[in-house]
Amino acid sequence: MEAAPIEAGLLRDLEEGVQRALRGHPAPGLRILGYGEISTVLELATPQGVYACKRLPPFPTPEALQRYMGAHRRYVELIEAQLRVRVPETRVQSIETPRGPVAYTLQRRLDPRTIGHRLLHTLPAPDAPRLCGMVMERIRLLSQFNRDPRGPLALGLDAQISNWALHLEDPCHPTLRGDEALLYLDTSTPLIREHGEEVLDTAVFLQSLPRLLRPLARRLYLREILDRYYEPRRILRDLIANLHKEKRGDLVEPLIETANRHLGEMEWLQAKPLTPAEVEEYYRKDARMWEALQRMRRLERLGCRMTGRTYPHLLPGKIER
Ligand SMILES: Nc1ncnc2c1ncn2[C@@H]1O[C@H](COP(=O)(O)OP(=O)(O)O)[C@@H](O)[C@H]1O
Ligand SMILES: [Mg+2]
Repeated sequence: MEAAPIEAGLLRDLEEGVQRALRGHPAPGLRILGYGEISTVLELATPQGVYACKRLPPFPTPEALQRYMGAHRRYVELIEAQLRVRVPETRVQSIETPRGPVAYTLQRRLDPRTIGHRLLHTLPAPDAPRLCGMVMERIRLLSQFNRDPRGPLALGLDAQISNWALHLEDPCHPTLRGDEALLYLDTSTPLIREHGEEVLDTAVFLQSLPRLLRPLARRLYLREILDRYYEPRRILRDLIANLHKEKRGDLVEPLIETANRHLGEMEWLQAKPLTPAEVEEYYRKDARMWEALQRMRRLERLGCRMTGRTYPHLLPGKIER
């Protein structure tokens, strides 16, 4: 469901806080809910409730922002309808600032205790792999949707456990009955392909990458980078490998077995089974890649500071992997 708009002044205050933080000044009101590899999620209290907000890269024209809003809405509708998940109430909202328009995605803030990576450590022992199993069921639905030859559309998903949450009656004592609603949070990069073409204007999103990498990413890797979110075997591999980062490496082997069962049932993929060695190697490579990316982003920020410019992204501190 789409969230109601919030008062522009509140979003403007949030943006002021972000600008202060980017310039290295104290920003006492700024509360950070979490970091992804690319974005920083901020908390915003409003009279309608508390929101999780992500600042979007600048759009070159108002039409580009409109197109993004359309893609975002469509993505939320599609994953809710096709993958049997819920997305917390969300909307895209933009404000005018002296530096030009700035857009944010707003999403109802969930109790942090209900988010997947926290649950991996708080659910009773057998329930943590079951939660991952619930996610794998959705990857299977995605695979079914994407294979439909009548449909021109394909859906992509970043299935890492920190992108999911459970609707729990008692977040203080999380347990799984199995019929809890599963929520998907990470909708700010709408991954939809129509006749094989990305609906999202990928040039806009390349701006979150270090400047040096953009031409290379555009020319060589973009399709390849995004393919990993559309191909069920790779989505499963990424979900499982990421358990190392979440300090649940013990779940990797049992979940490889579960994933291979799913892959076997998706016979149309004709996918090879995953092996522990492949998952380990993928995790090491992937961790090195993201580390290199974070180093480049910090370097670029340093370059900006030295030449009196403001680096436009809030960066996480060192990420444990
Ligand atoms: N609606 C929300 N409520 C509470 N926390 C959230 C919400 N959305 C995101 N977060 C926190 O921020 C983290 C990163 O958010 P995510 O949407 O996955 O961003 P990214 O695209 O950078 O991965 C999540 O793992 C979660 O901890
Ligand atoms: Mg995420």
